Amino acid sequence: MHPLQCVLQTQRWGPLASVSWLLLRTCRAHSNVPSTACPSLERQQEDGVRKDFSSRLASGPTFQHFLRSASAPQEKPDMEDPPPYLTVDELLGRQRKVYLETYGCQMNVNDTEIAWSILQKSGYLRTRNLQEADVILLVTCSIREKAEQTIWNRLHQLKALKTKRLRSRVPLRIGILGCMAERLKEEILNREKMVDILAGPDAYRDLPRLLAVAESGQQAANVLLSLDETYADVMPVQTSPSATSAFVSIMRGCDNMCSYCIVPFTRGRERSRPVASILEEVRKLSEQVLQLIHERDNICKQIHLPAQSGSSRVLEAMRRGYSREAYVELIHHIRESIPGVSLSSDFIAGFCGETEDDHLQTVSLLREVQYNMGFLFAYSMRQKTRAYHRLKDDVPEEVKLRRLEELITVFREEATKANMASVGCTQLVLVEGVSKRSATDLCGRNDGNLKVIFPDVEMEDVNNSEVKVRAQPGDYVLVKITSTSSQTLKGHVLCRTTLKDSSAYC
Ligand code: 5AD
Repeated sequence: MHPLQCVLQTQRWGPLASVSWLLLRTCRAHSNVPSTACPSLERQQEDGVRKDFSSRLASGPTFQHFLRSASAPQEKPDMEDPPPYLTVDELLGRQRKVYLETYGCQMNVNDTEIAWSILQKSGYLRTRNLQEADVILLVTCSIREKAEQTIWNRLHQLKALKTKRLRSRVPLRIGILGCMAERLKEEILNREKMVDILAGPDAYRDLPRLLAVAESGQQAANVLLSLDETYADVMPVQTSPSATSAFVSIMRGCDNMCSYCIVPFTRGRERSRPVASILEEVRKLSEQVLQLIHERDNICKQIHLPAQSGSSRVLEAMRRGYSREAYVELIHHIRESIPGVSLSSDFIAGFCGETEDDHLQTVSLLREVQYNMGFLFAYSMRQKTRAYHRLKDDVPEEVKLRRLEELITVFREEATKANMASVGCTQLVLVEGVSKRSATDLCGRNDGNLKVIFPDVEMEDVNNSEVKVRAQPGDYVLVKITSTSSQTLKGHVLCRTTLKDSSAYC
């Protein structure tokens, strides 16, 4: 069979001369592997698949088909409507296991999450064990020569794995994703015959199709760059389960054309993601944070949500970006997501233009939310701020202070009421050290981050009743709450314990 190769090259940006490619290449793969290496049944099956594929190929894509793809790279692959040479079933991952390896920058971390999100939807499974992978994808970097050399070295290692696999069971597919695929294009396929697919940074939506083509033993590539692909509708799936942070990508590509830099050529034109899609992703991440706070005993159930004012009019003057109603809705949502959550807030009394009615609305917000902790301030004009330049600091000092006093009183009344509910309960407390007020007391924090004071006495350890211990900073102890104020809880200590040993206490 003669290799069939179809390369379309579109020059889109005139003088900037960035080149976008659609490269589709089918050829006999693994020609360097002796045919005796394949068990005959497997070879017959492969031949069958190839014949079937070839007959569909003959009646399948035309040159026009590729042209269409080239002019409309944004069209999302529609599972209902596969290209003529593939069935819907072939586009599915069918539980095949993908091993993803990321090289280079934070954009590549994000690209890995996007690529995985697309493959997951397509029915692939993820594995972190190279040995059990059906597909290995390297998300590559071209920024400096050494980065590429690292990938070439890795490919040599993977070649051994692939050859071994060919002799045993289902073939292993290897893909080069990202910047190196974009920069070197078919040079990679020529140099490393064991590479099955290439996908440039704007071609990840095409991964299911590329892998489907690779399944029939052909090499496949899409290195077409796009003017507007931002993967706005693809929710990245965090690839590291233990990650402590998440990236939210807001733009792709680069137009700066620094004289030393390859990035504009590998990642294409600069384009921003629609704000709505960024916000939606951040909202989903925030949801995950609430879920985690709810689930995990080692995260304290407290959220600080500075309101600043209870009046939508003042919030607008402050340019806070939310109304009283939106804030209250968020509070309800948090309380539903984390039952028993402890809430704290910041408020400013007497901001520019604040009327008595605005002030009363702040009072009513304090009553409505019933915060457990509060930080309340009289407004003080700061030079350089927008309020300094544009607004009038027109609330007299004595009015500011009177309003502040009123807010403090209301906050204390409500916090005391909220804290009263703890009296009689046994709470898990993380010991911080000796109380500032009394050397004979210890101080710690409960699950709502409220201060708990209790006498520094000997106690039992839950795992060893034979010895008496004194609590040390960092220990967990159980404290029975006997009294409260608006700021602190007081009680007596029952025993030293651990997070694991302490089940839910009220
Ligand atoms: N005047 C009074 N309070 C202020 N804060 C910030 N700036 C000012 C100001 N100019 C308060 C807000 C903020 C907290 C850290 O300090 O409530 O949330």
